[in-house]
Amino acid sequence: MSEVIVRSVRPEDLDRVTEIEAACFPPAEAASKQSFIARIAAFPESFLVAEINGTLIGFINGCATNNSVIYDEMFHSTQHHVPDARNLSVFGLNVMPEYRKQGIAAQLMRHFIQAARETGRQSVILTCKDRLVYYYESFGYVNNGISKSTHGGAQWFDMTLIL
Ligand SMILES: CC(C)(COP(=O)(O)OP(=O)(O)OC[C@H]1O[C@@H](n2cnc3c(N)ncnc32)[C@H](O)[C@@H]1OP(=O)(O)O)[C@@H](O)C(=O)NCCC(=O)NCCS
Repeated sequence: MSEVIVRSVRPEDLDRVTEIEAACFPPAEAASKQSFIARIAAFPESFLVAEINGTLIGFINGCATNNSVIYDEMFHSTQHHVPDARNLSVFGLNVMPEYRKQGIAAQLMRHFIQAARETGRQSVILTCKDRLVYYYESFGYVNNGISKSTHGGAQWFDMTLIL
């Protein structure tokens, strides 16, 4: 496989990011183009994309927060982003289906965790479905049980990585 480059998002990535989101999540859970316009403007430093040969194939994004768990309003408005906050959240980790199981999501996650460390965060927080709890545990996240989040009508688990 060609080299995977992980870098911060740029405004011109908008359409491809929206396309990847729609390929990775059901409509009730997928963030909209409008959401991505706002997120790219608000927190490009915690919105990382993976590209191969100039084509975007995945990304990870989330805002900074002093809250210790993710709550649903965070997905819908960048007003909840507190730049100097203690924690970095993960709203989504996405890799295009044809590029999965090659460690690309893991590379994105490792860069994200490193960025959180370098900016002095105390923890990284995320919510995930039960089938991915073990995957995030492999990075050191701890499962804190069922989340209050009902995002997209699904059941989610709160996970925390203490840095
Ligand atoms: C979840 C998701 C991001 C994982 O992406 P990915 O790039 O396939 O992730 P990785 O390659 O790091 O790991 C996936 C699996 O491939 C395995 N893998 C990694 N590199 C590998 C390689 N070179 N050869 C074979 N398997 C490999 C990993 O060990 C892992 O195995 P597991 O499923 O048994 O734990 C992707 O499936 C996705 O976008 N899903 C839809 C959106 C979603 O649900 N996101 C998460 C919630 S926010």
